[in-house]
Amino acid sequence: MTAFNIMLAPGDGIGPEVTAQAVKVLHKVSDRFGHRFQFTEEPVGGVAIERYGTALREEALRRAKGSDAILFGAVGDPRYDDPTGTVRPEQALLKLRGGLGLFANLRPVRISESTIDASPLKPEKVAGTDFIVIRELTGGIYFGRPQRRWLSEDGRAAVDTMHYTEPEVQRIMHVAFRFASQRRKRVTSVDKANVLDTSRLWREIAEETAAQYPDITLEHVLVDACAMHIVNQPTRFDVIVTTNMFGDILTDEAAVIAGSLGMMPSACLGDLREDGTGFGLYEPIHGSAPDIAGQGRANPVGMILSTAMMLRHSLGLSREAETVESAVALALADGCRTADIATDTQGLTTWQMGDAVASRI
Ligand code: IPM
Ligand code: MG
Repeated sequence: MTAFNIMLAPGDGIGPEVTAQAVKVLHKVSDRFGHRFQFTEEPVGGVAIERYGTALREEALRRAKGSDAILFGAVGDPRYDDPTGTVRPEQALLKLRGGLGLFANLRPVRISESTIDASPLKPEKVAGTDFIVIRELTGGIYFGRPQRRWLSEDGRAAVDTMHYTEPEVQRIMHVAFRFASQRRKRVTSVDKANVLDTSRLWREIAEETAAQYPDITLEHVLVDACAMHIVNQPTRFDVIVTTNMFGDILTDEAAVIAGSLGMMPSACLGDLREDGTGFGLYEPIHGSAPDIAGQGRANPVGMILSTAMMLRHSLGLSREAETVESAVALALADGCRTADIATDTQGLTTWQMGDAVASRI
């Protein structure tokens, strides 16, 4: 029997509630398919600051490297919102992404017929939406230096640096084009090339990469226009590739299509093995939602679908991944909804929704 080592990093707010549902689903997968999942748990974010004074211990990073994959809940805690503070829960995520070389963030955006009523957009506009955003994750303005604030002659001042190198752009482009090869063969590269030098470099390298994939169509769209198209004409996209910050913003916007941030999964991957799998970190794209934490109201679907992505991309278990995805689709088709996507009822609790999926595996 194969044993997989999974590091659980439930984090803050609703993180632990949704992570518990993912674990429940994995237990069902192991019953049905005979795999063994070994879990270790690591405090990250606000809970780690509370306990160790840092959002992520060095030791945690070492242990993460020894695991097959990380399931990450959410981080963020209003107690650490002080803009002058030096420790912040979000540092856990950035340290893991940077420290583990997870440069490619995959964020699929899909809408199923059964939940179309949960979308605030017109059904005829969103029906059939199926695209994936490939967000560069370890470069750009998130990681560029200098990044600091100081007291200048004109008062308080601050600087962030948007920085990209050729290899950083090349490797994310290849991820996007490879995905497009297996999909509808269309890449939309999103930038702000009318203003930014980093974007002009991005665009140039997108063109060079496209030359190596003759069957893929490449288009360039400016980020402001893309923000408009995502809600106005979401079905036009297949693969969107973009920088760290633009990807962050556009994927929250894209989540509106499905009706809730709670539905959206994501995968963070680095270099892959020959067989196309590799170490990864998997997290729903929603945050810690402190306003509803501990109340059992969070939607665990994004976390459960992230777990399916882990089965596929890190553990090489595609059949198991499809089984989990079908169980989610079945539960939704049967009308199982948490409050965020329920239209007429009060909705299921986080646990009930987790059970609804697990019982369909
Ligand atoms: C995300 C989040 C993170 C990001 C935060 C929590 C640092 O918004 O994963 O989209 O900006 O990358
Ligand atoms: Mg975000």
